[in-house]
Amino acid sequence: MPAEVWFTSAPQKQATALVGDRAGQNVAAGSVAWASLPEDPFTPFLASGNEIRVIGTTALPSGNRQSTKQAEWTYGLMMHMSQSLGVNCTYCHNSRSFAQWDASTPQRTTAWYGIRMARDLNKAYMQPLTSVFPASRNGPTGDVAKVNCATCHQGAYKPLYGTSLLKAHPELSGVKVAVTAPAAAAEPAAAPASVDSATVFFAVGSSALTDDGSKSLAALAESLKANASAKAVISGYHSASGSLSQNQELAKQRAFAVRDALKAAGIGADRVVLEKPQSAEANLSGEDPKARRVEVALK
Ligand code: HEC
Ligand code: HEC
Repeated sequence: MPAEVWFTSAPQKQATALVGDRAGQNVAAGSVAWASLPEDPFTPFLASGNEIRVIGTTALPSGNRQSTKQAEWTYGLMMHMSQSLGVNCTYCHNSRSFAQWDASTPQRTTAWYGIRMARDLNKAYMQPLTSVFPASRNGPTGDVAKVNCATCHQGAYKPLYGTSLLKAHPELSGVKVAVTAPAAAAEPAAAPASVDSATVFFAVGSSALTDDGSKSLAALAESLKANASAKAVISGYHSASGSLSQNQELAKQRAFAVRDALKAAGIGADRVVLEKPQSAEANLSGEDPKARRVEVALK
């Protein structure tokens, strides 16, 4: 397990310029699962908000700051995250494309928030405590102990493998959040107006319910449920022009569509009465869109 808190690592001692700068890497480091990757990926990623990227989003040379060196820091953090959660890379990534979010698991999204949470805890809570701790408790560069994934996870994909602490600590359930309700919300919501009829219109030649039609039938179904003795009487209309038998058949199909919608809303078949379709008066132009309708009345 990596250490459960972290400090910025001490600068490399270089007695003479003959010793190369190993840039915080090239020794097996516990913080990155004993890889020889940069041993402190936390300072850039969990105390500052550096981009955790390997793959550039623009072609070189236009502003692409991703590099092999950058990749090593990103991989250092990934090794830490994997070890802290006791998982491997495919717990979050699809190895076909590590960068692509829509090919990644939902856990990667949680991890994205985990990274932001750790950053926030460090910046908002730990760093302001630097001077409160005795110097002996701070790190080699004088910084305070900070949070990483291991602090809470300790090798488990969920801290304590998701065990509920409430049984052992019932006092936790007593925590109450005080919320002052805005004045308007205190008034009870007005009961929806009860409806006793609905007129449902259809497109030419169609017996399919429109969105508006479905909405008014849903409201009517609520009224039927509230009033157990009421029945829905369905009457279809068709235009006076054109073939009578075709018009009657269409009106029937439309009435059936209305009946089926009420049934689907939980209204029993015995509460729905179908009446014979009627011919509607045509207007001067010979076609009346209002003829393409079904009326439902509660009786
Ligand atoms: C717990 C989930 C998790 C695990 C395990 C994990 N990663 Fe990641 N990885 C992420 C998240 C989240 C990001 C994006 C971070 C961000 O945008 O802040 C990321 C980013 C990356 C990227 C950068 C992609 C880009 O856009 O350029 C690479 C590469 C990568 N991971 C490789 C790995 C490898 C290799 C391993 C295994 C050693 C690994 N990851 C394990 C969650 C995970
Ligand atoms: C302050 C404590 C804390 C820290 C720090 C923390 N986590 Fe978590 N994490 C949790 C808790 C608690 C859960 C479980 C939430 C739940 O009950 O579903 C969790 C859940 C997750 C999960 C979901 C696991 C699953 O299978 O559903 C992922 C992934 C994760 N954390 C990634 C990370 C990563 C990556 C880091 C470090 C950058 C991190 N977490 C840091 C407390 C923490």
